[in-house]
Amino acid sequence: MIEQITAGRSRTIQTKLVLPPDTNHMGTIFGGAVLAYIDEIAAVTAMKHSGKAVVTASIDTVNFLSSARVGNVLLLEGVVISTGRTSMEVYVKAECQSIESGEKTLTTTAILTMVAVDEAGKPTPVPGVVPETEHEKKLFKSAQERKQRRMKINEYAKELV
Ligand SMILES: CC(C)(COP(=O)(O)OP(=O)(O)OC[C@H]1O[C@@H](n2cnc3c(N)ncnc32)[C@H](O)[C@@H]1OP(=O)(O)O)[C@@H](O)C(=O)NCCC(=O)NCCS
Repeated sequence: MIEQITAGRSRTIQTKLVLPPDTNHMGTIFGGAVLAYIDEIAAVTAMKHSGKAVVTASIDTVNFLSSARVGNVLLLEGVVISTGRTSMEVYVKAECQSIESGEKTLTTTAILTMVAVDEAGKPTPVPGVVPETEHEKKLFKSAQERKQRRMKINEYAKELV
């Protein structure tokens, strides 16, 4: 297996049109619809990085910063920001673009953990990632901190069952 892959190799861009079934009575998009788009682009990004099938292990650090309206275009971008033995952290940002003005507004950011799996659904090793941009380098550096925070939250979640 290739040991390390640059972040740019798996960077993924998707464009979606906000349609009425994805919006509420005020014409703004449901958070769940945005999450479905984010989950999909994170899966494609992680599959491109690992060359394997992937499952979503967690979605965290989700920030709904502003809403998108019916008729707006959502521009999504996914990039692998860190890797473990079998897991990949994927950063996704969604921007809303007005068709009339072309103006873009940051709508949502999220970090997902995707795990590569083999034919039996068992976690399987992935290549490391080499961050390229300043933003990717910053997120790469803080990966360990996020992993520890995530483990604490997962412990707490188990207590809720
Ligand atoms: C994610 C999954 C494959 C992990 O399987 P597991 O038997 O717990 O495997 P492991 O303990 O060996 O963990 C494998 C990797 O997943 C990571 N992981 C497991 N649970 C996690 C969680 N809740 N959040 C973040 N990472 C997690 C581990 O840290 C490990 O990463 P590493 O190999 O890079 O160190 C398994 O729990 C699963 O299949 N979950 C369902 C996934 C799914 O169907 N998602 C769709 C929505 S329901």
